[in-house]
Amino acid sequence: MPSRIGKPSWPEGWPSFTDEDDDPKDTYLQELKGKLVAEYGADALKLAWVKTCKALEDVLPPIVEQGSDAIPIFQYDDVVGTDNAAILDEMRAKGCFIVRGVIPEAEAASEFENLEQFFAQNRGDIIGWPKANPTIFSIYNSPVQLRLRTHANQLKLQRVLNSLFTDSSVSPEEHRAQWEPILYPDALRIRRPGQEFLGLGPHIDGGSISRYADYSYRMTYDKIFSGEPENFDPYDMTHRRDANPAFFPSGVHCSALRTFQGWTALTPCGPGEGGLMLLPDVKVVMAYNMLRPFFRAPPPGDGDWEEAEKWVLDDSTSSFPGQRRWDSQLLSPVSHPHLRLEETLVSCPLVRPGDIVTRKISSAELLCHAVEPQHTGKTPASVVYIPAAPSTPRNKAYMTQYWKDLVAGIPPDDYKLLDGVNGDSIANTQNERDMVGALSLDRISVEGRRALGEGC
Ligand SMILES: [Fe+2]
Repeated sequence: MPSRIGKPSWPEGWPSFTDEDDDPKDTYLQELKGKLVAEYGADALKLAWVKTCKALEDVLPPIVEQGSDAIPIFQYDDVVGTDNAAILDEMRAKGCFIVRGVIPEAEAASEFENLEQFFAQNRGDIIGWPKANPTIFSIYNSPVQLRLRTHANQLKLQRVLNSLFTDSSVSPEEHRAQWEPILYPDALRIRRPGQEFLGLGPHIDGGSISRYADYSYRMTYDKIFSGEPENFDPYDMTHRRDANPAFFPSGVHCSALRTFQGWTALTPCGPGEGGLMLLPDVKVVMAYNMLRPFFRAPPPGDGDWEEAEKWVLDDSTSSFPGQRRWDSQLLSPVSHPHLRLEETLVSCPLVRPGDIVTRKISSAELLCHAVEPQHTGKTPASVVYIPAAPSTPRNKAYMTQYWKDLVAGIPPDDYKLLDGVNGDSIANTQNERDMVGALSLDRISVEGRRALGEGC
């Protein structure tokens, strides 16, 4: 395949994924791929592949043309208002957006000061990643996180986000009850001006090979594999609710069902200032990603890589480009050329303190995203990761355990192991209750404590 790496706009240091990265001795992956081709059939897969590559030709050019403007911006009051049908439709279509003013700007800005103070008080006790020059901190229950997570506006927004999904596996009453948010604990980021960060190139959270290996997760993509990618509904959680993204244990997988991942901004951050990059399409890009392992580029002299019809069905190799059992799905221009990532992965527009950037994360797929390698701004770029998640039985079970861990000060289940090298894991022994300034849990509202798992 002709290389698409090398354009000046593509950051040096983000990984690429080529045939050399495949392990030909990985018989598990060979068998998994062979089994899926036998199950769905070569014709259906090929039909889906050609349809999807053609659909990309319609979906991607407007993103290239619009750049950051392809990511819509809504006002919090409009999103939670009664006349929000058009907004919800656009949210569904794009899968990523900014909601302005969820937390009042002055309040969010002062929480950044509080966070800086908390870090100063607990210097040396907070673990960060990458170890040599951390920007993401493995802390889940600092006072700022708990206050922002349980903020009444945050919960109100999350109810709206959870309501964007359908679920045919439960009654309408149960489905509605699921909209009630649970507050999955996640980490936070503080990135200083000039701080380089190459750790998060283009990727999709939520597991990688688990999407094929775990039955419920695979069924989420059934329409794609069956030759009907146009009927794939990213907002149907009928199967996704039981899927296991952590089918292969690892410190990077989230075992809860999140509807949207969210970044609550504590500081201003514009394009180029170390923030988020997004590929704002929620349906076709994921179909391409799921089909990619089943096809190989045409051999030299047998057609151009851009011609989807020329790609060759691969039913026998261990190649799952950019996928390792223990990691998220990783993408690059070499491994996923039709996505035109050099042009379609766009920087998030300016966010201000209190704004929330969200991206769709569940019910089938997660949005392709990255973190900008450079921070050319003048002030720290800081966000608290606060996803939206519904009250499904699995999620409630997770939160029941989380509440006990929160009270005891031990890390939440998904963070009891920290990422090591090549899938190795290290026990996380941090106790957040022992930290200076830890928030007394009785200062959290009843509604907030319930969403944190008390009495779940
Ligand atoms: Fe991510």
